[in-house]
Amino acid sequence: MKILLTRRLHDFAIKELKKRYQVEIHTGKIPMSKNFLISKIRDKDGLICYPYDKVDADVISAGVNLKAISTFSVGYDHVNVNAASQRGIVVSYTPEVLTRATADLSMALMLDLFRKVNEGDRMIREGRWRTILGPYEFLGSDLHGKTLGIFGMGRIGMAVAKRALGFEMKILYHNRKRILPHKEKRLNAKYVSLDELFRRSDVVSIHAPHTPKTHEIVNLRLIKKMKKTSFLVNTARGKIINEKDLITALKRKIISGAALDVFGREPIDKSNPLTKLSNVVITPHIGSATTETRRKMAEIAVQNLVLSLSGKKPIYQVKVGSSRLDRP
Ligand code: DGY
Repeated sequence: MKILLTRRLHDFAIKELKKRYQVEIHTGKIPMSKNFLISKIRDKDGLICYPYDKVDADVISAGVNLKAISTFSVGYDHVNVNAASQRGIVVSYTPEVLTRATADLSMALMLDLFRKVNEGDRMIREGRWRTILGPYEFLGSDLHGKTLGIFGMGRIGMAVAKRALGFEMKILYHNRKRILPHKEKRLNAKYVSLDELFRRSDVVSIHAPHTPKTHEIVNLRLIKKMKKTSFLVNTARGKIINEKDLITALKRKIISGAALDVFGREPIDKSNPLTKLSNVVITPHIGSATTETRRKMAEIAVQNLVLSLSGKKPIYQVKVGSSRLDRP
């Protein structure tokens, strides 16, 4: 069988794959253009892809031999799962193993916003720390006692809640449906509407998937519900936020700040206003980027593909009917 990797994976993973298949690894421009992906997928039985590869209906129909798509990610909004399932193509992904790493980054960003870590770093590097700071200068705020609003209480949202409890924060959440009562109790988490979440939280952290329903759901209307002193954190998907609206809100100081690991378009350009705002912390989509986690993701992505191509159930199969593509 022939498989395509849209970029290199760990050596051990490539070795495993080469034992079984004829492997083609894309080494050129990332992401591959749609036409290039279409030309490469024609004779392939399997595909290992990443969140920036748009595996839409055209790509899937070009893959006449395609039997399995394994994405190196928990998100699968870049794969048209419905088009794949109509062709009997198995789509698999890598949840769970990256839950803690992503939750850790959300906490790191939250701490940074509350305690101005980056702002202090920038101040020193730019030669602006000229006097010993006085009792009223450069003040952040305490996390303890503050309200964290979690939008999307899946695995990662729950892991963030668990960590925030350690910081003695109060937890509100909004999700498609309420989580089980014993989980609410364990996390001391209260279910509220989305509007209420934005209105009452001192920091809102986004952990929802990007779907047609969540596309740019965080817009100026919703942001305006937030307190002037509150923050927004996003480690999920950039397109859940209307970026222009967020920039407006940050410029007008409608909220205190934002920390973003994901963006509408990645990588963001140096000229993006977000890079100029002092009340913004930005990281380059590194939610799952730890050595340990990325290795586990590679193991699972390979096992998922191998199992699917041998007609077995992959470890994590995307459910049919759960397509997250906004524009198939
Ligand atoms: C995911 O796994 O979906 C992450 O966003 C990828 O880095």
